[in-house]
Amino acid sequence: MLRSVILAASRSTRIERLVETAPFTRDVVRRFVAGTATDDALRATRQLVADGLAVSIDHLGEDTVTGEQATAVRDEYLNLLGRLADAGLTPPTEVSVKLSALGQRFDERLAKENVRAICAAAEAAGTTVTLDMEDHTTTDSTLDILTELRKDFPGTGAVLQAYLRRTEADCRDLATAGSRVRLCKGAYKEPESVAYQSAQEVDKSYVRCLNILLSGPGYPMLATHDPRLIAIAEDRSRWFDRGPDEFEFQMLYGVRPDEQTRLVEAGHTVRVYLPYGTDWYGYLMRRLAERPANVAFFARALVSR
Ligand code: FDA
Repeated sequence: MLRSVILAASRSTRIERLVETAPFTRDVVRRFVAGTATDDALRATRQLVADGLAVSIDHLGEDTVTGEQATAVRDEYLNLLGRLADAGLTPPTEVSVKLSALGQRFDERLAKENVRAICAAAEAAGTTVTLDMEDHTTTDSTLDILTELRKDFPGTGAVLQAYLRRTEADCRDLATAGSRVRLCKGAYKEPESVAYQSAQEVDKSYVRCLNILLSGPGYPMLATHDPRLIAIAEDRSRWFDRGPDEFEFQMLYGVRPDEQTRLVEAGHTVRVYLPYGTDWYGYLMRRLAERPANVAFFARALVSR
């Protein structure tokens, strides 16, 4: 219930203005976001890499509505990739991209051109791109674009969301040699017709999907902070005899850092998803929806205005 309310608020510009000016906002944002500038992303990346972690950087922003905005997002990724390469951080750093930030909702052709340019820059920098997955209305378009991109940039990664009923079938399609698939639970408000609604159903789907991915020849990227799912993934990775170069765990910046360290010390590859930029509202609201403890803290800040 609370999750639904927060996810609905994530689409409201009125609440966005209220949240942006709330007194405690900066502290909450700082926990989940590296900062607003490219330099902030580089600084945080260097620290994570020094701690033995791999990184996927996300320039915050989604649902752009003009060609100029979409092109500006592309240019920031090109700049970022150049800076990462100059700093000797590629690998172990890659980038995550939301197609809606590149124009997918109003001009799919433009989004394809933009993401192609980013994939080419990533290749020149010696790294890869993963296409984030957004709400279910974009899933087919995103997977179609992935298929096209992989012809020229085979290392391009996809994200599949265990809460979608279709995802088991998508996992079977994508569990092929050379494919990189990030499996997450899913962060958007979705109708029952397309998505499992109970946590238990989503978790069961996640386990079915991770079994498909770990038993196939691709490279699974298991994105979760859920202790039970991590334990199952560690167990199944042993069962399928997967070494640290054959799959990875992924977690969000600022979420369960101690667990990230524990997994690295246990010999696993762990990648941190590191967002930066000024357009943090939608991202922050999805993180709050995942964690009621953060919401109570935030609600007090709003009420005290
Ligand atoms: P769940 O939310 O059930 O949390 C399990 C436990 O983890 C909690 O009990 C708590 O201990 C801890 N935890 C979880 N979230 C927390 C938080 N915000 N603060 C503090 N503790 C927290 N989604 C999507 O739809 N498209 C995408 O492209 C991506 N990409 C992506 C990349 C990466 C690297 C990650 C880790 C996640 C995503 N997601 C995503 C988000 C994903 O779908 C999901 O919403 C979150 O990961 C939360 O789900 P968990 O699996 O962590 O379980």
